[in-house]
Amino acid sequence: MILDEDHVIRSLRSTWQPVANAASLAPGAVTGVTLLETELVLARFADGRLLAADVACPHKGARLSNGCIRDHELMCPYHGWRFDPAGACQSIPSLVEPNAAKMALSHLHVYAVQERYGFIWVQLDSTPAADGSVATLPEVPEFEDSRWTYVMGPPMPFATGWRREVENYLDMTHFAFAHATTLGKAADHRLPPMDIRELPDGGFQMDAPFPALSSPSEPPGKLQSAHHRCQRGYLPNFTTIRQTFTDGDERVLLHVPSPRTRTSCTVFWSLAISPGFDGPPPATQLEFAVRVLDEDRVMCENQIPAEVPINPGRGGWGVLVMPGDNLANAFQKQLRRWLSTQSAPAATAASLTARPAEISA
Ligand code: FES
Ligand SMILES: [Fe+2]
Repeated sequence: MILDEDHVIRSLRSTWQPVANAASLAPGAVTGVTLLETELVLARFADGRLLAADVACPHKGARLSNGCIRDHELMCPYHGWRFDPAGACQSIPSLVEPNAAKMALSHLHVYAVQERYGFIWVQLDSTPAADGSVATLPEVPEFEDSRWTYVMGPPMPFATGWRREVENYLDMTHFAFAHATTLGKAADHRLPPMDIRELPDGGFQMDAPFPALSSPSEPPGKLQSAHHRCQRGYLPNFTTIRQTFTDGDERVLLHVPSPRTRTSCTVFWSLAISPGFDGPPPATQLEFAVRVLDEDRVMCENQIPAEVPINPGRGGWGVLVMPGDNLANAFQKQLRRWLSTQSAPAATAASLTARPAEISA
């Protein structure tokens, strides 16, 4: 089956994608984000409620992301129209007489939004699948266990497609090269045995030892030392790594490259550290992870083309034959299978080109 990028974009609209770190949007804050080529306004009202909507004001298209919260309503900066947390227009200052029909036509196009794992997530298309199922977020209990230390990473923009980033995250053979002075300081370029299997509810899991050198030139730090990696991928792009060190300490990394466009994404990530972790303090671990991720960014942004081809061919799955690429191949094959089961409802296609409603004079 030949897939195209329009189908990929439409399919991902039904999934939950992170668009901001929750703590970055204080009550009363308004900002703009782009998800799957859709520009959104994101607002948090004084009572904590969130609004995600098309960014263009229904009046004359001003970006509502430049607006502000006034008296529990989102106010457009251009002519002061106001919208409540559900997106309903509550005020058109220039109307001498309130006009219910015009107000109704001026409702914002809103999207499902939720807060979990320290992120704000948006789902652009909430239409249930043909079998009635709706998309949910994977369960990662360590991130909701108060005994674990939970650290939010700063969102990292990548000038590369989201699949490039996922493949990088699944890559077990780049540590000794791309991360030669950080994560891979004591890494072996030879591949450890990897156990890759499909998860019963979709996605995949890999179990493997981190490829630590048996006699490194200098003793590795805790974060570079031998550990077991249990890596999970939940389609299309939600990934976790559980690291178990030789002393029993553990870390779980949550990592989601949220697609902004076909060739850019923002990596939202965080870290859960097991109780009594014997190693660098959380702030140092965060700083280390930022350095490692930035090294990955440089690698990803220097690959051609900017996104992994979705169909088998050069640079895509099918030519990645080395054992080190087995996990990336598993991802590509499962992703193609997942995409082939996604059918875009007619309403979705229409909403891709939806514009603010016209108001009759
Ligand atoms: S463009 Fe927003 S109120 Fe006019
Ligand atoms: Fe990496």
